[in-house]
Amino acid sequence: MNMLDKLFSREINRRTGAHAISIYIDSNTKTRKRSRSAGAKALNATKITTKHSQGSFFHRLDVRFPWLKLIATVVVCIIAILDLANFTISKVTETDDKIRIAPMSHHVKATERTLEGKKLVALTFDDGPSAATTPRLLDILTEKDLPATFFMLGSTARANPDIVRRIENDHHEIASHTMYHQNLVTIPADAARADINEAKTAITEILGHGPAYTRPPYGNLNDTVITSVGTPIILWSVDSEDWRSKDPNSIISVTMSEVYDGAIILMHDIYPTSVDAIPALVDTLRGAGYEFATISELARARNIPLNPGSIYYNLTP
Ligand code: NI
Repeated sequence: MNMLDKLFSREINRRTGAHAISIYIDSNTKTRKRSRSAGAKALNATKITTKHSQGSFFHRLDVRFPWLKLIATVVVCIIAILDLANFTISKVTETDDKIRIAPMSHHVKATERTLEGKKLVALTFDDGPSAATTPRLLDILTEKDLPATFFMLGSTARANPDIVRRIENDHHEIASHTMYHQNLVTIPADAARADINEAKTAITEILGHGPAYTRPPYGNLNDTVITSVGTPIILWSVDSEDWRSKDPNSIISVTMSEVYDGAIILMHDIYPTSVDAIPALVDTLRGAGYEFATISELARARNIPLNPGSIYYNLTP
């Protein structure tokens, strides 16, 4: 930086306006007219610009209220940060919705996700989550690359919130099996309603949204239950009887003897033997031409609308 440039910068910094710059330019013109004519032209241009800005509204504003610029900068920064945060939040929300509505879109490779023309079943797991068994089941489902629907108890969900979040993050579907697994048709209506609502609250507190479906314990229904759930009621058409046999071979043979396209298969993620059965059961079902879907996917693939308070045992084509 030569001396003239330094002078120029200093004068600009002092904000004394065009007068000082004119002095500088005049001296430059006199002393370096021949050798630096191009530079002088540029400086003249600067002079014009500076004069213009000195007279401008914003320049006068800046001189009188120098703090205004600071405040304006802070306001713009805050707006920018808020805007960015809002963008991020809405993006996350959008992803959450996608996960809830179309869990499989992330779950399985696109080439394997053509449900059209396939025989479909929905694997459903009741009574969990359990810290002892559900994580291992989730590992297997991830490894086998298939989605399931979990009808969880509000009480066990509340005891295992991290597992509930993992179930959703693994793109499975979240449904309610009520709060305490009471037989809702044998308790007072108020107690049944309270149990249903408490489960919804427990799940909502963990995930920020309620269960997509409800399956009352033992599949027992009455008018109170039907009018209280506020979601479609999903029962089952194939009982693997895992709760009775507690034997992987039996679970597979019972399921394969009853399964059909559109079946909803009942299992429980609280028994180690049920988890043990899953790898071979999945392979056997795939070998028989079946593919796996959540309840929502199965309903969508079959164009079956799922209505709150309506009861579904299967979702056949
Ligand atoms: Ni149950």
